Amino acid sequence: MENLLVIGSGGREHAIACSLADSQRVGTVYWMPGNGGASISSKLRAIPLLNLDEIVAFACDKNIALTVVGPEQYMAEGLVDRFAAAGLQIFGFTRQTAQLEWSKVFALQFARRHGIPIPNTRFFQDYDSARRYLSDHAGQSFFIKADELCGGKGAFFAPDQLAGEVALYRLFSEQICGKGEQVLIETAIIGEEISIMVITDGTEYRILPGVRDYKRLCNNNLGPNTGGMGAYAPVFLSNELVERITTRIIAPTFRGMVSEGLGGAGIVYFGVIVDRQNNPYLLEYNMRFGDPETQALLPLFSGDFYQLLSAACAGRLNEIELQWHSGATVCVVATTAGYPTKYGNDRFLIHGLDEAARQEGVKIFHAATTYHDGQWYGQGGRIFAITARQQTRAQARTLAYHVITEINFTDMYYRRDIATMEEKCVA
Ligand code: GLY
Repeated sequence: MENLLVIGSGGREHAIACSLADSQRVGTVYWMPGNGGASISSKLRAIPLLNLDEIVAFACDKNIALTVVGPEQYMAEGLVDRFAAAGLQIFGFTRQTAQLEWSKVFALQFARRHGIPIPNTRFFQDYDSARRYLSDHAGQSFFIKADELCGGKGAFFAPDQLAGEVALYRLFSEQICGKGEQVLIETAIIGEEISIMVITDGTEYRILPGVRDYKRLCNNNLGPNTGGMGAYAPVFLSNELVERITTRIIAPTFRGMVSEGLGGAGIVYFGVIVDRQNNPYLLEYNMRFGDPETQALLPLFSGDFYQLLSAACAGRLNEIELQWHSGATVCVVATTAGYPTKYGNDRFLIHGLDEAARQEGVKIFHAATTYHDGQWYGQGGRIFAITARQQTRAQARTLAYHVITEINFTDMYYRRDIATMEEKCVA
């Protein structure tokens, strides 16, 4: 039996740890720092978070066969480089490869070099010139984005100049996301967004089913961006559209990565928008599993997840056939009131979680929970996600919402419209 290590504390990492633990070949999945979800499975063991050198030493000491990195920050800080130097197997990218996520300038120049379609984007280093650009383009809609890692909370839709100026002020002056040294202004493309995660071993790649992510806080895609309020999978894409996304975006990316020496095993997550003429554009690269896309996708995976990730690390992805359950999943995230901007840090009781987890077809992925003396507690922003898997998306949605109404905690909040919107142009 192999011992594994998962890095991260959210619902995404809980989903990854559970899928790894399902493998017959896996003994213990150490989870650093983990969350309350570790108490549900005898194979999961939460370990306090250590610094980068200590994580490497821990992996050596416990004879860890495979480490999986959840959050991008660890890749940006060079955790994968340290594992590689120590000869340890790790699923995730080096700092250099992960630059496709942590530097938007690098990603944009990479996409331009390789002829990958992207929205018209400009970079600004100061508020005044950015504001002038907005006023010179009055009447257009933009996305204003921080050029730093921001946990999904550094992008603002600006349908008009005033909204754009507010976003610029928040990023440059209030520095709500990092140092506010550089901001992107991206022309908004009207269309359907899809999260497409692709697993690679550095040479081969396999495209996983598309996922729809709900980033905005409120129903009807209103309110601020969050770390993710829900998701569903799969997004039904025509063969023609898959072909277009592959030839225009995915294949040139992997060719470009190989030609520029950006290798390694991991997930390249393509944030794609398809416009009304069915033309796909790359919005961003994330060099990791999506959150909450992973919570929606992994319950559909029916193969051996450990075998898949270790084959990728060993450069043997070509030997693996991806296996999926039929049907669809819907994932709904529960948060405390005030998330993502202002929320308290008090601990509160959660009622009904164990009963909900016993429902057939339902998985609960914990985020900000702890378990003490037979009781569940929450503390923080995103508390947990419910994923329901059924034969149809509508059935999965009904089940997910039925289950979430049986759970409660003070000021619990969740979107009511996950997986209700029509897919208009992704046909
Ligand atoms: N769901 C968006 C992300 O993982 O970045």
